[in-house]
Parts: sequence; C-alpha cells; structure tokens
Amino acid sequence: MARTRVLIDTDPGVDDAVAILLALVSPEIDVVGVVTVNGNVPLEKTALNARRIVALAGRYDVPVAAGCAQPLSEPLGEDSVVHGHDGLGDLQWDEPAVALDPRDGVELMAELIEEGPLSIVAIGPLTNLAVLLQRHPGIDKRVEHLVIMGGASFQGNVTPAAEFNIWADPEAARVVFDAAWRITLMPLDLTHQAFLNDDDLAYFNGLGTEVGRRTAAMLEPYAQFHDRWYGNRDVIMHDAMAVYELLDPRAIEKQGVRLAVEVEGVHSRGATFIDRRREHARNHVRVGVSVDNDRFRSLLRERLAAYRD
Ligand code: RIB
Ligand code: CA
Repeated sequence: MARTRVLIDTDPGVDDAVAILLALVSPEIDVVGVVTVNGNVPLEKTALNARRIVALAGRYDVPVAAGCAQPLSEPLGEDSVVHGHDGLGDLQWDEPAVALDPRDGVELMAELIEEGPLSIVAIGPLTNLAVLLQRHPGIDKRVEHLVIMGGASFQGNVTPAAEFNIWADPEAARVVFDAAWRITLMPLDLTHQAFLNDDDLAYFNGLGTEVGRRTAAMLEPYAQFHDRWYGNRDVIMHDAMAVYELLDPRAIEKQGVRLAVEVEGVHSRGATFIDRRREHARNHVRVGVSVDNDRFRSLLRERLAAYRD
C-alpha cells in the first residue's frame, strides 16, 4: 500500500492531540512534519504541546517547527476556555525529548512540498498556509491534497456565525480558499457527528499504556467543557476528521461546493458560506457531509491501542 506523505499544521489543542496521535500510528500515512500555529493557545504553547505529543508517540524522526505567532490581522487572546491554560488539559508533563526544529515552520512546509508529493492536514487557524502562499506564489499547485478542519454551514462555535479556526484568521482563510489546491473541508456540521463518550475514555485509560492514560487524561477536562457548553460529555473529534479523510477516503461522504469567507461583519466575521448547489458538484473544493461515528470510534480505539510503552 503506498503511504501518503503528510504534513500536519496544528494548534494543539486536545482534539489536535488525538488527531496527531492517530496520524502518527496509522500505516496509511507517513507524517513527515508537524508545524504549529497560534490558535487555541499562543504559539509557544502550541509548539511545546506538539513536541509533547510527538514525544509521547515516540516519533523522534518527525520534525516539529513553529509557524506564525499571530493572525494576518487581529491578534488572538492568550487563554483557552476549551483546552485549558496550557492547551492540553493542564496535565503535568516532563520536558519533551523532541526538540523544536530551528527552521521557520512555513519554510519547513515549503521544503517538504518541494521534496515530493505531499498532503497537508490543517487543523488550526490557516495563517501558516496563507503566509506560505504569499512567500511562495504557485506552491498551492504542488500540494496533492489539503484537508482542513474548519468552517460551518449553519451554526458556529466561537460565535453563532463562525467556527474557531476560520474566525481566528478569516483573512488567511480567504487567501487559502481562493487558491488552486484541492481542498476537502470538514466543517462543524460534519465534525459534530464524530464524538467519543465516557466508555471510550475508560477504554483508553484501560490500555495500560502512557498514550492511553494521557489521552484519557487530556479528554477528561475537554469532556467537562463539553458538558458545560453542550449539556453532555460527548467530546467532539473535530480535528481527527481531517486525518480520517486520509486514512479512509470512503469513510466520509463529501460533496463539491463553492465556498466564501466573511471577513467583515459585526456579527458574521469568520462565517463560511457554503454553496451546495449541484452546479458546484465537481468543484476542487469539497466538504464532508456525513460520517459513521461507531466506525470512526472503533478505528480510533484500534489505532491508539497499537502504541506500546
Ligand atoms: O472549531 C474546532 C477547531 O477549533 C478545532 O481545530 C479545535 O482544535 C479548535 O482549534
Ligand atoms: Ca485545532
């Protein structure tokens, strides 16, 4: 089976952590780099968290580099009510054995693209990708597939209109969506179909491995956040949907669309307008429509169980 070369662009983030652990252990893909961005928490924290996760996975071969510290326009806040003060549920961690790669994260992206066929999983704000396009015009045509977690058709999360990754840097999202690369977008209306429950947290904890214990421990405060916000502890696996698309392209039903991002608007800044009319069915931009959550959960359990201490 030919493995897909993958770069992960991320703002860990608890759901980012699960997505990255899934990617690093799955035989269908070969993660050749992790680049972090300011998002759930500031860049220095997302970079430290990415090092923690890659070290937890034992993948000392994967470079972790820091990308952009601020969005293209309006700065982001410092803390995350969703992911905890440190961005990973505020557990105790030793200093990770994975060092921060000294290369500029956006330049690492460009190097990896030039080295050969590459798919990109973008699961944070799209600042790094926008700067990549600005510094390297035309590079979008050399990326095989860009899978993004972001946007929403009907209801946002950070505001009633906007999903966080797009809201955090709508100018960057507009640049990215207007480029020529093949995009598959996993919006909230798809990702809310994929969630873990307390049985899954108990399963991970019962694996008897550090990955299992830490995954369950990170997900606990995330479940408490979900309970406060949504009235139940089902933890939504937003970012894992972008990885899942590359593991099994048949698992998520998709459709071609035309996509626009609102960058103005008092109430609508960061909103995504997804035009699903049939005339766009063959467009280079597609959105995830539906996914079987039980099938996803059993795959995630199987893959995380493959880690050994
Ligand atoms: O709206 C969900 C997205 O925002 C996910 O990527 C999550 O990690 C947060 O960054
Ligand atoms: Ca994220």
